[in-house]
Amino acid sequence: MQTEKRLSTEIDANVPTAARMYDHYLGGKDNYAADRAACEELDKVVPSTRRLAVNNRRFLQRVVKTLTAEFGIRQFLDHGSGLPTQNNVHQIAQGIAPESRVVYVDNDPMVLVHGRALLEQNERTAVIHADMRDTDGIFSHPETQRLIDFSQPVAVLFNSVFHCIPDSESDGPPAVVRRVTEHLVPGSFLVMCQLVSEDEKVREFVTGFMDQVTQGHWGRVRQEKDVAEWFAGMEILEPGLVEVSTWRPDNEVAPRQLTQEWIEFGGVGRLL
Ligand SMILES: C[S@@+](CC[C@H](N)C(=O)[O-])C[C@H]1O[C@@H](n2cnc3c(N)ncnc32)[C@H](O)[C@@H]1O
Repeated sequence: MQTEKRLSTEIDANVPTAARMYDHYLGGKDNYAADRAACEELDKVVPSTRRLAVNNRRFLQRVVKTLTAEFGIRQFLDHGSGLPTQNNVHQIAQGIAPESRVVYVDNDPMVLVHGRALLEQNERTAVIHADMRDTDGIFSHPETQRLIDFSQPVAVLFNSVFHCIPDSESDGPPAVVRRVTEHLVPGSFLVMCQLVSEDEKVREFVTGFMDQVTQGHWGRVRQEKDVAEWFAGMEILEPGLVEVSTWRPDNEVAPRQLTQEWIEFGGVGRLL
């Protein structure tokens, strides 16, 4: 059973959020001094995080391009979509296939404000303010119902988001993945990656640090084996589950992470 999620509608500039810290790492302007200070602290332990963030975003863009151009996907449901940057999911998909529809979901109120401003002119795209664990609420939302035809394949994205939610029998990543796949037809895709470390000290420190600075809006840094479990029963697209900068790299030169204390790990699974 899903638990009810409280959603904050107020922007608090003094409490860092994952969305705004990520925006800062990507060179965006939608963040505050508290977010930047938290990034600076984090960099002392995991100094490659800026490059990791840039590579993560590029992975997302390559995946959307691949699924649209090579696999004919025209519908995307993007959980934890983040603050709009350049080349967002709808811009890439609609740049290749203008009829593509995209529903963005995020629980950060700032994402909602900026997302809606960006999308005002776009009939085929919507932003929903919801917790990514609220599968029933997201799937039955009028905008989701308007834009997504669940009798056709959908690409469902959980890109760099599951580290934001804790383990829980009813609401942890495996439960969310199970619930979501029940709504999808074969030929649909799940895109999933998250922050992992094989170093227990790094996992513990960063999990504790992020939990503290975000005042509990955080989950857990996990291990590669945890991510692999979410893909059970799916066909995993080549090259498999990998550090994301190595997933079908294009011609753009990716900034190499100089240290590997933590990485963004995952891939793309197709429902059989
Ligand atoms: C690191 S960003 C990833 C953004 C984007 N998916 C990407 O890969 O570029 C994590 C995003 O997840 C969102 N998020 C965190 N917890 C969430 C939750 N429980 N429900 C919905 N969104 C959440 C944050 O607000 C943030 O925008």
